[in-house]
Amino acid sequence: MLTLPIAMMDLEPRQVLAYSVLLLIPALYFLLRLPSSQLGHIPTVGGPSTPLFSYLGSFRFFVRGVSILQEGYTKHKGHLFKYNDWYSWTVAVTTAQQIDEVRKAPDDVLSFLETGLETVQGDYTLGRAVHENPYHISLVRSQLTRSLSAIFPQMMDEISTAFEDTIPTPQKHGDWVKVHPRDVITQRGVKFLGPLITERSRLAAELGDEWKDKPNDMLQWCIDSGVGEAIPDLVMRILTINMAAIHSSSITFTHAIFHLATNPHFIQPIREEVDELIQKEGWSKETLGKMHKVDSFLREAMRMDGLAAVSLDRVALKDFTFSDGTIIPAGTRLAAPARAIHRDDELYPNALTFDPWRFSNMRDKTEQGAHNFAVNTSAEFMIFGHGKHACPGRFFVVNEMKAMLAYIAVNYDVKMADDSADMPPSMYFGRAIVPNGTAEVAFRKRQH
Ligand code: HEM
Repeated sequence: MLTLPIAMMDLEPRQVLAYSVLLLIPALYFLLRLPSSQLGHIPTVGGPSTPLFSYLGSFRFFVRGVSILQEGYTKHKGHLFKYNDWYSWTVAVTTAQQIDEVRKAPDDVLSFLETGLETVQGDYTLGRAVHENPYHISLVRSQLTRSLSAIFPQMMDEISTAFEDTIPTPQKHGDWVKVHPRDVITQRGVKFLGPLITERSRLAAELGDEWKDKPNDMLQWCIDSGVGEAIPDLVMRILTINMAAIHSSSITFTHAIFHLATNPHFIQPIREEVDELIQKEGWSKETLGKMHKVDSFLREAMRMDGLAAVSLDRVALKDFTFSDGTIIPAGTRLAAPARAIHRDDELYPNALTFDPWRFSNMRDKTEQGAHNFAVNTSAEFMIFGHGKHACPGRFFVVNEMKAMLAYIAVNYDVKMADDSADMPPSMYFGRAIVPNGTAEVAFRKRQH
């Protein structure tokens, strides 16, 4: 086998030059990502901050991101700290004051969009049309949220059909059916949207205002928005909304199901609340609004096990100065170590204990408790982000998850298939938290 120098000697000078340039590009890439000297005064966690070696921190973060963020929060709570995320140096904010300053910063200084686009390489994966005119975000914020009552019957119908499909009635009454919640909770991607759009456009042209059973859904709202987008852009926009909506919801609800299945006795108080309300008022969005225990259970499940270890991802497009004078140079990312904050004993007594009625009790006992519904964001609860970019789909998704949890409570008994009382360990990579994909949850038709 030839060693590299001997192989190089056999090359033409032009080839040597070409190979050298190829080798230089990654070297420059590494060098250009060195920490700015302006970040030198911010303590580092997760690896060395010295030139070149700092890159090791990126790899360590990929493998141990969740514990690196916890370590940073434990050591530097009250101050900023920095870690080497996969993309660049990221400064973590740990106090309510810092979080407030980040969430209030204008978009042209700390950008939410640019972080998202960099993460998913938006120009290539989504195309420019979607993010240059993001009208779907206001449709989610306004039209979807306003339509929650109107679409409730369709949503409930979908929920009961989906449960019947995924948890079929067993042959023997009282038998348990085992499922992997992570797999069954994820919905299928939108297929054949193109022909559907063509068909809807045909019906709109043919029937106009006479179209009595015109669909009341996101696709139709996008078609009706007046933008007149080409079919591929429209399809991409729906897929973009799905990307924001589907995995976030399935991950979050899977954690909640695991919390229920590892504590089957928590179903009884939920059942009593739901049974009573449904008997009095029937299923509706308004009835769901009164299900405080259901809401509290979900908020607590989200507090304990969120979507990611960080929230409030931003990138500085211009230098940003905190009120204490700390300068964050342009190009630096900022984030809040949300999981560590959500598990802080000073903010949540016995934070590592799953207490499903933590928030409903808080609401009953204290004035500030009123702001502890699952949709409410704060510097202490950032599952849906916080500030002007806080998830616009949260009103819809909380409604959906409450309906699913209430439906499960009144129709099924639930436990872990192996009767375990321990949460199945999640998988962590970088900042991401992915619920266990192999643990089985057992369902049977409600016995009592
Ligand atoms: C449990 C499920 C969900 C979680 C945990 C979640 C979480 C988040 C978070 C953390 C953000 C960023 C907020 C920030 O940095 O301040 C976000 C943004 C967003 N979410 Fe969600 N989300 C969920 C479900 C949904 C659903 C169902 C939809 C659509 C129907 C949706 C649509 C969006 C959109 C469009 C944005 C971007 C907002 C903007 O650009 O201002 N999400 N979400």
